[in-house]
Amino acid sequence: MSSQANANSAPPPPAAPVWLPDAVFGFADGEAQARDLAGRLNVPYETVEVHYFPDAECKVRIKGRSRRPAVYRPLNYPNAKLVELVLSAALLREDGGKDIALIAPYLPYMRQDIAFRPGEAVSQKIIGKMLAQYFDRFIAVDPHLHRTPRLNDVFAGKPALALSAAPAIAAHLKARQVPTDVFALGPDEESAGLVKAAAEGASLQWATCVKERKGDRDVRLTLPPDIDFKRRSVVIMDDVVSTGATIAGLARMLREAGAKSVDVYASHALFDDKVHEDLTRAGIRRIVSCDGVAHKSSDMSVVDLIVNGLFSSR
Ligand code: R5P
Repeated sequence: MSSQANANSAPPPPAAPVWLPDAVFGFADGEAQARDLAGRLNVPYETVEVHYFPDAECKVRIKGRSRRPAVYRPLNYPNAKLVELVLSAALLREDGGKDIALIAPYLPYMRQDIAFRPGEAVSQKIIGKMLAQYFDRFIAVDPHLHRTPRLNDVFAGKPALALSAAPAIAAHLKARQVPTDVFALGPDEESAGLVKAAAEGASLQWATCVKERKGDRDVRLTLPPDIDFKRRSVVIMDDVVSTGATIAGLARMLREAGAKSVDVYASHALFDDKVHEDLTRAGIRRIVSCDGVAHKSSDMSVVDLIVNGLFSSR
């Protein structure tokens, strides 16, 4: 058989990833995803044991050893978790870890990327620098990089993979057989990358609004001109839903403009049940998020994104 015939009959081998962990370490939160990731990569898994002293100080314990460990953790409510991560990475290093990865599907402290008012700390730079002292590489999904060009820039130039939830959103829309006259809308110009990729993946038209943030819960949005939303089904797409103010405001405007239905896709759902009720009252029919932060709305697998990202990141 000729080599040409061989090449045509055998499926191509998957591209070798640049880097793979030899073990995955997770925490009680996000344990299902961390275990799933280890299983998919065919490496051992261990849950980091965290003990809390009566004053909420913590102590971590890791029994396994690894040269290329991946520490997986969803970093919503991040403050205490950051201390536990630093302790874990330092311990793994002492125990022989040479190339330690932080896989944080939701990466916090990214939104304060400049001093918006004189005297404010630039959290993105400070937290990034701190984590870069303990970890050698980083993986996150749709990190908030509005004014920072690349994720590596956050982590002192260390290797960093910024994955997008767009393929998962497109696949979810297609699985729902969402008709192609549904309109995909981002709340601000910074959402364009996510919205474009997800909408085009599902053959939908798309656009973004203009957003001006006045405060945590005070956002002013302008719908894109020249688009008639009357009797149109709209899917809002955004990286993070936190207070819900952005998508609630947008949903109200779309309903007022005559939209037939408003659904939301979010890479990370950080909101609680009370906000969820408010979002329903604002006219949002359905919210779908990735399970990188476990949430009632989670229906897209972050592990799929991470595994695909690792095997296509040459
Ligand atoms: C902002 O730039 C982000 O992309 C999100 O739009 C924002 O974080 C949403 O926050 P909230 O739900 O609090 O309005």
